[in-house]
Amino acid sequence: MGWNSVIPITMDTATGVLAAADDEEQAVSTTPTFVQRVTDPALAADIADVAAATFPLACPPDSSPDDIAAYIADNLNADTMRGHILDTDSDVLIARESPDGPPVGYCLVRHGEPADSDVQTVITARPATEVSKMYVLPDHHTQGRPVSPSRALMEAAIDLARTRSAAIVWLGVNQENLRAQRFYTKMGFTRAGVKTFDLNGSVEHDYIMSQALDGHPKA
Ligand SMILES: CC(C)(COP(=O)(O)OP(=O)(O)OC[C@H]1O[C@@H](n2cnc3c(N)ncnc32)[C@H](O)[C@@H]1OP(=O)(O)O)[C@@H](O)C(=O)NCCC(=O)NCCS
Repeated sequence: MGWNSVIPITMDTATGVLAAADDEEQAVSTTPTFVQRVTDPALAADIADVAAATFPLACPPDSSPDDIAAYIADNLNADTMRGHILDTDSDVLIARESPDGPPVGYCLVRHGEPADSDVQTVITARPATEVSKMYVLPDHHTQGRPVSPSRALMEAAIDLARTRSAAIVWLGVNQENLRAQRFYTKMGFTRAGVKTFDLNGSVEHDYIMSQALDGHPKA
């Protein structure tokens, strides 16, 4: 059974709200997920808090704590998040477990030409959309549930790529981050190549993963 058949997600294009509606026939013991495309910059600080709590989980165990802390301070602060929210070529999504609850996860989606030359080499279809960040607080990981913030965020991200008529959606993931790789594989991504990632001056090694979309505008 597909995940969407358990808890349908629909986006109100006027408000950008994606809601996971309860389906009585499929009632299972599960926490609902509400995914919202963020348009209010006032949410930036809350998202930055989630980012700071979760970024270390994506780093290899031998990463320097100082490099991680510096990366968070420089790249995942509230000002940077505010910029992403206001950027017309980016979408920031948050997942909550009640409509007005605190964010338990977030996703940054960036539409347009990839900046990295290694990515440009292997991601050649256009238009392209990047799932640039995908982070969920540990207590809210899927853990066997049929519905989860991570799945809802990725479904919504791909939906947003479709609204831009993307022919491909891609992402980078640390080569040691097996959990995220497994998650992306489950969500339809396959390995396309490799690239590096600058963690405050330390070179990290990523896989590039991608999935083709049909490139047609979403109805
Ligand atoms: C990546 C992330 C969003 C995925 O969400 P999630 O809710 O944990 O995803 P799921 O549980 O649906 O999928 C993870 C899979 O990895 C598996 N897994 C967990 N730890 C693993 C490990 N060490 N090695 C291999 N697989 C692992 C899980 O069992 C699960 O697979 P299964 O459904 O076949 O059992 C979430 O784990 C997260 O936020 N992690 C920290 C930040 C991060 O790494 N972000 C990605 C940056 S690229």
